[in-house]
Amino acid sequence: MKADKGYVEAEIAEGTDLVAEISRLKKEKNAVVLAHYYTLPEIQDVADFIGDSLALAQIAEKLDADIIVMCGVHFMGETVKILCPDKKVLVPDMNAGCSLADSCPAPELQKFIEEHPGHTVVSYVNTTAAVKALTDIVVTSGNALKVIESLPKDAKIIFGPDRNLGNYINSQTGRQMLLWDGACHVHEQFSLEGILDLKKAHPEAKVLVHPECPAPVRLVADKVGSTAVLLKWAEESPYQQFIVATESGIIHEMKRRCPDKTFIPAPPEGSTCGCNDCAFMKLNSLRKLYLTLLYELPEVTVDPSIIDRARRPIERMLAIS
Ligand code: 13P
Ligand code: SF4
Repeated sequence: MKADKGYVEAEIAEGTDLVAEISRLKKEKNAVVLAHYYTLPEIQDVADFIGDSLALAQIAEKLDADIIVMCGVHFMGETVKILCPDKKVLVPDMNAGCSLADSCPAPELQKFIEEHPGHTVVSYVNTTAAVKALTDIVVTSGNALKVIESLPKDAKIIFGPDRNLGNYINSQTGRQMLLWDGACHVHEQFSLEGILDLKKAHPEAKVLVHPECPAPVRLVADKVGSTAVLLKWAEESPYQQFIVATESGIIHEMKRRCPDKTFIPAPPEGSTCGCNDCAFMKLNSLRKLYLTLLYELPEVTVDPSIIDRARRPIERMLAIS
């Protein structure tokens, strides 16, 4: 991951209204700010669009802007750059990685593919551009079932890197995809016992679970889905209370859309804090977003030869979504 140094230490004059400055710079530079639901509330509030991985990719593809700032994690910035190679794509902090993407280095995947010839390679969007370049079709948690169902019933499939999402897809589709052994450190941590304790205290509450959670947690779910699917279900279902087993940043948008409903973050294993945060997503701060817009740094770059190969599996996914 390339790190552009210097700009992060820049002084910001005391009393600067960061929100107003971000808004001014966006207009002045024809820049659009995208934010994932897991970012800090103040980032979601200044973003032009917030969404799940699928929605953000779909929006990015259609944007008419000179600069796109992706407030999320690095692979999301890469996805935007792959879809919009002629635009300047910025991320507020290059250190915003992803444990799931890190669990699948491209050379190791390449070796795995060679060891299992004749397989269609399906990769979750939470992967590096280099991994996408080795992939036949990309999925997000929002369209994974649909994309897999679109493949021939007898297709032999390698799925990576999330073993929990892969396992969930296998259970729902009856496929027997060969799974890469990766996981997200945030979603792996949810405690089944903690959720059952919360259920005892709030018997009316429905349990919302992201498919990156392990199977025992999914078993107690009333709804399994991507962040956008969980939001929609919370909004449209008649229920009033929800236990939320995904990154707690999403609760900001849940409360905004449903101010009269109650959202309770599910606790991670052995926690005393009662919620589960992705430290990478939380690296996006108002200060860094302001400096990113001001200095147009750090910029996401992807090798052009990788862009060409990585775009095809993403576009194939978008065509099905
Ligand atoms: P979504 O695709 O649901 O937005 O999830 C992205 C992610 O990073 C989950 O951990
Ligand atoms: Fe990656 Fe997990 Fe953070 Fe999502 S929550 S960005 S999968 S580390």
